[in-house]
Amino acid sequence: HESKKQLIKDNIQSYPDFPKPGIIFRDIFSILHKPDLFSVLRELLTATAKSFKVKPDVIVGLDSRGFLFGTIVALDLHLPFVPIRKKGKLPGPVITTTYTLEYGTSTFEISTDSIEEGKNVLIIDDLLGTGGTLEAACHLITVLGGNTTGCLLVMELTELNGRSKLTCPVKSLVQY
Ligand code: PRP
Ligand code: MG
Repeated sequence: HESKKQLIKDNIQSYPDFPKPGIIFRDIFSILHKPDLFSVLRELLTATAKSFKVKPDVIVGLDSRGFLFGTIVALDLHLPFVPIRKKGKLPGPVITTTYTLEYGTSTFEISTDSIEEGKNVLIIDDLLGTGGTLEAACHLITVLGGNTTGCLLVMELTELNGRSKLTCPVKSLVQY
C-alpha cells in the first residue's frame, strides 16, 4: 500500500498562498479528476477502514468533502452512511455544535435519530488540520450515545497536531 499512498500524494496538487498568503492548499479534487487515481484512493480508503480494531456499525461523513469518501467506503463495507451537515441543511430534529476553524467558526448538525445508542462509528473526512472539525463530529456522536471507534482521513497536516484533540484511533493515508 505504501507505493499507492505515494502515488496519491504525488498527484494531490498544491496551491501556494491559497486561500491566504503562507497557506498551501492541497486540492483533493485533483485525484477525483482522474478515475484511475480515484480508484486507487478508494481501494486504500476501504482497506484502511477495514483495518481499525473495532469494526464500525455506521460510517459518518462530514459536510462537504467528507461525503466524497464516506459514501464510497460505506458502500464498499455495506454499512449505513450518516451525514453530519453544516447548520440549517438537515430536516427534522437535530443536535447542534459550534466549533472553531482556522478562519472563524462553523456549526455542525446531526439528525437525532441517525445513530442508535451503543453503535460503533467510523468518521470519514478528507483532511485533518487543527482537529476542530473532527472534535465537533465526535462530540455530536457522543451526545447521541454512539462510540467513535475511529477517524479516517485522506490527508493530515501533521504540524497542526490535530490528533491531540482526539481520543479515538486516527488513520490518514498521506501526511504533509
Ligand atoms: C475542511 C476540510 C476538513 C476541515 C479540517 O473543511 O474538509 O473538514 O476543514 O480542518 P480542521 O481539522 O482544522 O478542523 P471546510 O470546513 O473547509 O469545508 P468543506 O469540507 O465543506 O469544503
Ligand atoms: Mg470539510
